[in-house]
Amino acid sequence: MPSSQSPIIDVSHLSATLGERQVLTDVSFRVYPNQVTVILGSSGCGKTTVLKHLIGLYPIRSGQVRIMQQELAALDEPQKQQLSLKMGVLFQNGALLNSITVAENVAIPLEQHTDLPPDVIQDLVRLKLKLVELEHAAHLLPSELSGGMRKRAALARAIALDPPLLFCDEPSAGLDPITMAALDELILNLKHQLGMTIVLITHEVPSIFRLADRIIFLDAGRVVFEGTLQEGLQSGIARIEEFFRKGKGEGMPTRS
Ligand SMILES: Nc1ncnc2c1ncn2[C@@H]1O[C@H](COP(=O)(O)OP(=O)(O)OP(=O)(O)O)[C@@H](O)[C@H]1O
Ligand SMILES: [Mg+2]
Repeated sequence: MPSSQSPIIDVSHLSATLGERQVLTDVSFRVYPNQVTVILGSSGCGKTTVLKHLIGLYPIRSGQVRIMQQELAALDEPQKQQLSLKMGVLFQNGALLNSITVAENVAIPLEQHTDLPPDVIQDLVRLKLKLVELEHAAHLLPSELSGGMRKRAALARAIALDPPLLFCDEPSAGLDPITMAALDELILNLKHQLGMTIVLITHEVPSIFRLADRIIFLDAGRVVFEGTLQEGLQSGIARIEEFFRKGKGEGMPTRS
C-alpha cells in the first residue's frame, strides 16, 4: 500500500510565483515507487510548472521538494547533476536534434554522461530503440519519422541512462487514439519490466484510465485531490467530475 511505502518524491507546501503571477500555491503531494502518478487538471493550472520544479529547471523558493531522499534546495551543482541523471524527461514537444539520426539522438546522454566505449553505447542504443519498437528507424533523421515515432524516439532518449524516475509531459499530444494507446503500452512496460516510477502529465482520459495508479488533480495552482484514480472518481469533487465528463480539461487549446 502506498501509505506504508516511503515516497520517491515528496512535495510539501510548494508555492511559486512566475513574473508577477502566483502560479502554484501550497502544493503538497507524494509519488510512490514503481507507480504511474498522473498530474492532471485544466490547461494553465500549473502542471508543467510543477514538473519544472521537480526536475530542477526552477529553483524551490517556497516549500520543500524531496526526491529520492534528497532535499532539492540543499543540493549543490554537482549533486543536482547527479540527481538529474536519475530522472528522464520527455518534454511536451519531445524535441530531438534534427540534424542527426535517431540512434545518434539516443546516444547523446550516454556519450555525455558515461565513459562507455562506442561499441557498448551502440549496443545500449539498439536495446533502447528495441524497447520502443524503433530498431528499424535507427538510421533515420527525426524529420523522416511520424509523430508517434518521434515521441517513441524521444522516449528512448529519455530512458537512455536507465533513470529510475521518468517524467512525461503530455507525451501523447497530437497523436491519434491508436498510436496513443501504443505509447501508453510502452509506458506501462517501463513500469512493469524496468520497475520505473513514472510521473505523467496528460489530458487524455483514456490514457489516465489505462495508466494511472494515483492521480494529483490541480486547479488554479492548488492540489484539490491526491489519491487513487478510483478514489478521485468517487470523491464527489465537482472539478474532477467535470474534467472526466468533458473528456478534456476546460479551455484546452488545440495542439498540433
Ligand atoms: N515563465 C512564466 N512566466 C509567467 N507566467 C508563467 C510562466 N510559465 C507559466 N506561466 C503561467 O503559469 C500558469 C501555469 O502554466 P503551466 O505551463 O504550468 O500550465 P499547464 O497546467 O502545464 O497547462 P497546459 O495544460 O496548457 O500545458 C499559466 O497561467 C501560465 O500562463
Ligand atoms: Mg503544460
